Amino acid sequence: MKSTRRAFLQTSTLAASAIALRTTPLLSQSTHADAHIEIMPAETIATISPEIYSHFIEHLGGVIYDGVWVGEKSKIPNQGGIRTAFIDAMKAVKAPVLRWPGGCFADSYDYRDGIGPRDKRPARTSFWDQQDNNQYGLHEFMRTCRAIDCKPYLAANLRTMPARDFYQEVEYCNAPAGMVPSNSAAPAAPNALATQRAANGDTAPFNVDLWGVGNESWGCGGNLTPEEYAAEFRRYTAWTPSYSKTPLRFVAVGPNGDDVDWTTRLFQALHANPERRHLWGLSIHYYTSGSPSKFAAGDALKFSNDDHYDLLTRGSIMEKVVNDHWKAMANSANSAKADQPKVKLVVDEWGAWYGKGTELAPQYNLSQQSTMRDALLTGITLDIFQRHADKVAVANVAQSINCIHSLMLAQEDKFTLTPTFHVFQMYLPHRGAQAVRAEFTAPDIQNPLANAPIPVGGNSYTGSLEAVKTLAGLSGSASISPTNPKLLTLTVVNPHLTRPLTTEVAIRGASIASAKATVLVSHDIHDHNTFATPNAVKPAAATTASPTGGKLMHTFPPASVTTLELHLS
Ligand code: AHR
Repeated sequence: MKSTRRAFLQTSTLAASAIALRTTPLLSQSTHADAHIEIMPAETIATISPEIYSHFIEHLGGVIYDGVWVGEKSKIPNQGGIRTAFIDAMKAVKAPVLRWPGGCFADSYDYRDGIGPRDKRPARTSFWDQQDNNQYGLHEFMRTCRAIDCKPYLAANLRTMPARDFYQEVEYCNAPAGMVPSNSAAPAAPNALATQRAANGDTAPFNVDLWGVGNESWGCGGNLTPEEYAAEFRRYTAWTPSYSKTPLRFVAVGPNGDDVDWTTRLFQALHANPERRHLWGLSIHYYTSGSPSKFAAGDALKFSNDDHYDLLTRGSIMEKVVNDHWKAMANSANSAKADQPKVKLVVDEWGAWYGKGTELAPQYNLSQQSTMRDALLTGITLDIFQRHADKVAVANVAQSINCIHSLMLAQEDKFTLTPTFHVFQMYLPHRGAQAVRAEFTAPDIQNPLANAPIPVGGNSYTGSLEAVKTLAGLSGSASISPTNPKLLTLTVVNPHLTRPLTTEVAIRGASIASAKATVLVSHDIHDHNTFATPNAVKPAAATTASPTGGKLMHTFPPASVTTLELHLS
């Protein structure tokens, strides 16, 4: 069955302007093509925020200890205790922002436990019921960010620490050290917390501007109602100095997946009081869990074809999640005052979350393998963020290493990149580029498990079954290079397990002069990288025909992610 998008495309191409007709023929609906993509460079969406390719590490299982932190005395190559392979991989994907220390961990964490001499730091039982000896703390995290050259994003404790501690954490991070000229009648004096930070090794302020005010306050972060959280948010953020000319970017706890009621009520409660000027972003957590069909809660490695289509369909709901929360914010007067910028969406936890069974070892809680299926979900998700570049400002995959939807797996001296890492790298040309509208026309895929029970747990989609019936037969996004208006990047996911899609690619109002393709594809959708076979799945250059008549005919292999660099004449 052909999708309604085809009908839309036919209408929209017929309605296209005469200018387009004069400059370049519209899609010819070539008889050789199974699918069509039409890119509209004049229909700009927004600049794609580089921060949508951001990351997240939490004190959980083997994420921090062993994944990121191996210690200075380790034989594993490290930079001041931080795993070198982790730093190198994060640099290779130009990680823009790293979120820490949680997750649920954040709301029972006291940053003061993780500063000062390491041998004096207390060991504590963490949220995840694990012993944490606090060897990796604030300064180690900041050194990690400096080594990667990314920005820190701190999730602050709102459940078990008072607002004053939050205020002082900001002060510890951002107040300048040394004598501070007084702007009052009081004599100049050094700031006590900045002095402490300097004594702990960092004279220069950390200048943390991105702050999550609690985490999942509807759940592990306090079981609050939106109204209760709104009051807390105000108390924590109302008069916090930023120690900079630019205001801090405060991110409010947003919904559990598709819970639009949370967003609506939170915004109503925030708007009921004029003191909301610090709200910069609304966090969304949306994880994808497949239907619990053959394998309870879904398995990372053992899945059927039906499970595959089901997971990708549910993952594609991210688009609905983004749209629905955006609408809810707008309806709740998101931009009520002209002088207040629109609050953006911060999808600071996303990924495919499977049941237990593929952990590196029992103590690596929530670590899971990552297959080609996860690579496809990564492409689908990043394409959604790119298509909604006007709404999504930051997104953090959960989590970078040894966890749910990881780019890396590490156990002691063993290390591998996952297929998801490769997709992040393939999508680099979109960073900071101008997102433009593109229409994809291909036969839809019906989700064979659309009527299966809704997965329990995670922050999954719990809405209408209607939305999980159909998976787009081909999806993707397009952008114009920020430095070269004649260079377009098109990323495309073909989710079908057996059907290659020969696709006609056309640019409205322009001609394709040449194209370069990179593809991530494997023989079997279950393929993944292991410590023994770290290169089992990796991208390769793909052949693509020379454009004819300004259009490109390209075949997207089954179960593949492709980046096409399109040079316009
Ligand atoms: O990423 C794992 C957990 O998932 C996080 O700690 C929490 O925020 C979410 O529920």
